[in-house]
Amino acid sequence: MGLADLSGLAYPWDTLTPYAERARAHPRGVVDLSIGTPVDPTPAVVRDALAAASDAHGYPTTHGTPALREAVSAWFARRRGVPGLDPDAVLPTVGSKELVGLLPSLLRLGPGDVVVHPRTAYPTYDVGARLAGATPLATDDVDTWAGRDDVRLVWVNSPSNPTGRVLDAAHLARVVAAAREIGAVVASDECYAELAWTEPFTTTGVPSLLDPAVCGGSHDGLLVTYSLSKQSSMAGYRAAFVAGDAALVADLLATRKHLGMIVPAPVQAAMVAALSDDAHVAAQRDVYARRREVLVDALTGAGLVIDHSEAGLYLWTRPADEAAGDCWLTVSALADRGILVGPGAFYGTEGTGHVRVALTATDERVHEAAARLSGGLPLA
Ligand SMILES: Cc1ncc(COP(=O)(O)O)c(C=O)c1O
Repeated sequence: MGLADLSGLAYPWDTLTPYAERARAHPRGVVDLSIGTPVDPTPAVVRDALAAASDAHGYPTTHGTPALREAVSAWFARRRGVPGLDPDAVLPTVGSKELVGLLPSLLRLGPGDVVVHPRTAYPTYDVGARLAGATPLATDDVDTWAGRDDVRLVWVNSPSNPTGRVLDAAHLARVVAAAREIGAVVASDECYAELAWTEPFTTTGVPSLLDPAVCGGSHDGLLVTYSLSKQSSMAGYRAAFVAGDAALVADLLATRKHLGMIVPAPVQAAMVAALSDDAHVAAQRDVYARRREVLVDALTGAGLVIDHSEAGLYLWTRPADEAAGDCWLTVSALADRGILVGPGAFYGTEGTGHVRVALTATDERVHEAAARLSGGLPLA
């Protein structure tokens, strides 16, 4: 069985084009809060490291430099409550989207295998399962798959895109226990982990799958993927990594070596700098916190309600009147104000009443959005 044909699969963002055109026609310009692409400059500490490594005449290693893998291990201990991660069990990836999309195939899953992913989710978990010919199963309820031996991979995403929901350690531990019982791999996409807005997570941090309180100190069967796109405004660098079970990582490495799936050497050097400097991450978090506050006040002031959104880069938003809750009506009303947001329908059938509002616009654009919402938002 080869890879499935996804060429006919619609790319959901294309369906937003008419709303984007309407929003762009606003006399004071569009406020684009749809795709969460960072708008702030990549920090100097990262750019300097990239520039200093620009003589890259030799091939980089697929496994990543020892300096990079040690920086990831030290970062897990310092920032994620995960001591003692084996640097050999770390592998850089070309951003995390490719890893999310390819993981079921790299694990050699196929027809008859089930890939569990969150009910309201980043679409690439579903795409990756389909590419491998496996069957995606969208559920947040462990009981719906516990004991099923066709389940081979379970994705969790905390903090969630799009809902901003954070899974606590007890929930993650239940996922791990149920997956270990059936021999399934658990993969945790934690790319928004540094962006917590509410207690207890601002104090305790967002729990990682590899936290001993979650996994009992063993990384068997577990993988975490993390990205520097958001925490360090490095989306253009394509800088991420996967880490966890040493045997699984060795297996992924073996295949990726054959395929040439290598992070460029200057980017690896930039990743070391980013992972070793917590100050720029804290500064970026403060910037997003301020934008978030402005947008929360503006959206709620306009009669909208924000659900979850405890962490991450988005506000998961709907009309107060659930009956008015067709996401396309909200998208349309906001587009009339020149504000572009993501329809919740992109993220699964439970998202159809919500829109996803990204925090990734400049301060000026965020204040402009707030001004445009100050008169309320008619949703007729
Ligand atoms: C949940 C989630 N996973 C993965 C990614 C991919 O990020 P990147 O490929 O930039 O590392 C994103 C990007 O928005 C995301 O929201």
